[in-house]
Amino acid sequence: RAALVARIDALVRLVPDYPQAGVLFRDITPLLADASAFAEVIEAIAADVPGPVDLVAGMEARGFLLAAPVAVALGAGLLPVRKAGKLPGPTEAETYELEYGTATVEIHPSTVPAGSRVLVIDDVLATGGTAAATVTLLERCGAEIVGLSFLVEIAALEGRARLAGRAVDALVQVP
Ligand code: PRP
Ligand code: MG
Repeated sequence: RAALVARIDALVRLVPDYPQAGVLFRDITPLLADASAFAEVIEAIAADVPGPVDLVAGMEARGFLLAAPVAVALGAGLLPVRKAGKLPGPTEAETYELEYGTATVEIHPSTVPAGSRVLVIDDVLATGGTAAATVTLLERCGAEIVGLSFLVEIAALEGRARLAGRAVDALVQVP
């Protein structure tokens, strides 16, 4: 596992001041492009899941890239958690605060039968706003959250605190 963490560190490119000044962007495209590293990441996320999973939820857009292969690896379905206005509906939505403004996540609740066991996946856990809104949305639809998995957790932004009481897994933690 230490070797995989080192590979992830090497393959996630740090881009200062993108998309705006003061933000250190973590670009996962080099990792996605590396066939064996990508496969190892998917296997590791799938291996860490704490219980049986019916659906893997991935947040648009980068969460899709990890959630879809993990769903196949687990023999589970895929649940795309989309940004506002992308699903034809009927939809269920949850709006959350950003530093400037708000964002909204949406799903088709018809694809989440009551009691569905859902694993939530995204590339980065930063403030936890996206993940917390996704959990709220899924639970309102009757889902049971099995856990949340991230490639990278940015500890200083304390997203984990907003997911208190959940099984939160991150392959790499950075300060
Ligand atoms: C990024 C990242 C996570 C989220 C983490 O997505 O992929 O989804 O921010 O931040 P948070 O923990 O503070 O909510 P972004 O909305 O930038 O867009 P993308 O995935 O569509 O590229
Ligand atoms: Mg995202």
